[in-house]
Amino acid sequence: MSLLLSPFTLRDLTLRNRLVVSPMCQYSAVHGMANDWHFAHLARFALGGFGAVTVEATAVAAEGRITYGCMGLWNDAQIEPLARIAGFLRSQGAAAAIQIGHAGRKAATPLWWRGSFNETAAEKPLVGFEHWQPVAPSAIAHIDQPDYQVPRALTLAEVQALPAAFAAAATRALRAGFDIVELHGAHGYLLSQFLSPAANHRTDAYGGSLANRMRLMLEVIEAMRAVWPAAKPLFLRLSVTDGLPGGWTVADSLVLAAEAKQRGVDVIDCSSGGLAGAVITPAPGFQVPYAQALRQTGIATMAVGLITDPRQAEAVLQSGHADLVALGRTALDDPNFPLHAAKALGDTVDQWPRQAGFAVRQRDAVLAKAAG
Ligand SMILES: Cc1cc2nc3c(=O)[nH]c(=O)nc-3n(C[C@H](O)[C@H](O)[C@H](O)COP(=O)(O)O)c2cc1C
Repeated sequence: MSLLLSPFTLRDLTLRNRLVVSPMCQYSAVHGMANDWHFAHLARFALGGFGAVTVEATAVAAEGRITYGCMGLWNDAQIEPLARIAGFLRSQGAAAAIQIGHAGRKAATPLWWRGSFNETAAEKPLVGFEHWQPVAPSAIAHIDQPDYQVPRALTLAEVQALPAAFAAAATRALRAGFDIVELHGAHGYLLSQFLSPAANHRTDAYGGSLANRMRLMLEVIEAMRAVWPAAKPLFLRLSVTDGLPGGWTVADSLVLAAEAKQRGVDVIDCSSGGLAGAVITPAPGFQVPYAQALRQTGIATMAVGLITDPRQAEAVLQSGHADLVALGRTALDDPNFPLHAAKALGDTVDQWPRQAGFAVRQRDAVLAKAAG
C-alpha cells in the first residue's frame, strides 16, 4: 500500500489519503458569494478521490478580496452556499477545507483572464463589479503597475481589529461545516506583507523586528484557534521564503513555524514567493525542500508546487519530506488524479464513487480479456 493513498489522521479528522486539492481562486463569485461554478469545480475533486479539497482564498473582509470575483466569509449570508459545498464534499468522503485570507495591498486587481478592468457598463452589474482602495501595513504599492494601487496604511486600531475578523470568518466556516481551516499567510497577501521588511515599514508594535512583524500572524492564529474546535485541524500556508534579497527567509519561517505550532497550527502548507521582484524559478517539486526544512521542527508539512506524477508524490512522502501533498493545476488537469494514482501505484484501494466505479472496472475487465 502506498503512503500516498494511506489514511492520515490530524486531531479527530482522518483523511482517506494524503492528496489535497490546493486552494485555487476562481474569480467567479458575485459579492463574495459562492455559486454553482464553485460547487461543480470543487465537487469533481471529491468524486475523484482526494483526501481533502480546499476552497479558494476566502476573504475576511470585502476589501480583502484579490478581485471583486473572489469569495468571502465576512457576512452570514455567505455561509449557506459554502455549506452546500462542504456538505457535498464530506458526503463523498473528502474532508472539506477552506482557506481564509486577506489580500492587503494586492486587493482590487482585475480578473486574471481579463487582464484589465475592461468590463462594459452592461456587464458590471451582472458580474458584481466593485472597485476599492486596498489597505496594507504601509502605503507602499505591490509594484508600480496600474493594476496595483498604492494602498492606505492600516491604523493601529484597524490592525488590532484584524484577528477578530479572521476569527469571525473561521466561525462562519465552522457553521458551514468545514473540517479544516487554512490560514493564508503566503504569496505576498496581507499577513505575508506584515512578515516582509519589504512591505512592512511600520514603526509601531507590528513592524520592525522579526517578533513585531510576526505579531499579527500569531495573534490571528490565536484568535482562530480560540473559535476553531480542538478536534479540527488548522493549517497555515506560508511563503517559506519570499525570494527577495534581505526579505523573508527559510530561517525566519523556522522561527514562525515553531511559534505557530505552539499556538495550535497542525500543518504548514509550504509555498513561496508572491512579492514583486522575487527570484524563484519553478521546476518540478521546487518547493518540496521548504516542506522538508520545516518538517524538521516537528510540525507536519504539506508539499505543493509542480507535483504532477503519482510516483513523484509518493517519493515526497516516502523520503519524509512532507506529510501531505497538495495539487493545484494538476488537479484541474486530472480531477480523478487519486483514482489514477491508485492504479499507477498498484494499490487495491478503490475510492471510485459507486455510480461510476463499477462501470470503469467492467471496462477494464473487458479490455484485459481482449488483450488476452
Ligand atoms: C488558478 C489558480 C488559483 C490559485 N488560487 C490560490 C488561492 O486562492 N490561494 C492560494 O494560496 N494559492 C492559490 N494558487 C496557488 C496554488 O494553490 C498552488 O500553490 C500553485 O498553483 C502551485 O501548485 P501546482 O503546481 O500544483 O499548481 C492558485 C493557483 C492557480 C493555478
